[in-house]
Amino acid sequence: MCGVASAAKASGRRAKPVVLLCGVASAALVAAGCGAVGRVTSGDPATGKRLFVSKCGSCHVLEAAGTTGKVGPSLDDAFRADKSSNFRSSGTEQTIRDVVRGQIAYAEKPMPTNLVRGREADDVAFFVARCAAEPACTLSASG
Ligand code: HEC
Repeated sequence: MCGVASAAKASGRRAKPVVLLCGVASAALVAAGCGAVGRVTSGDPATGKRLFVSKCGSCHVLEAAGTTGKVGPSLDDAFRADKSSNFRSSGTEQTIRDVVRGQIAYAEKPMPTNLVRGREADDVAFFVARCAAEPACTLSASG
């Protein structure tokens, strides 16, 4: 199940939608949603936050992490639509996690691939999915 349809960016600087439906033949994010790196089913958002600050924050805004990088898109903006109450469903965070995990593994330049790996990559994906566009998110681990 790879449901959430789109996370159009607010910024307009990059017009590419983030979350693609499975089956749409388009590069890395489809692989992300459909399991090439496996689904991210567990992770520790608190560890993910620390890793995000050190590995990702120089390029990405994420208010919950206090990062202000401008090389890549704001991850708050990237996932805001998916996280808004109109779109949100029980699968939303799962889908975002898988997309972020896929982006880490199959990043497009200038974003380096595999800045974090394995368990650490899962932790980062958990953190981003939990906290993108939600600066008051809780960082408790979950299954
Ligand atoms: C050297 C700068 C840089 C670093 C470090 C970096 N990114 Fe990126 N990231 C980018 C750029 C640039 C893009 C846009 C690539 C594109 O055009 O698809 C991007 C895209 C993304 C996207 C897709 C968002 C969208 O709107 O398309 C996600 C998710 C993401 N990065 C997560 C991360 C995570 C998680 C980390 C840390 C493990 C990270 N990035 C580290 C530069 C970076």
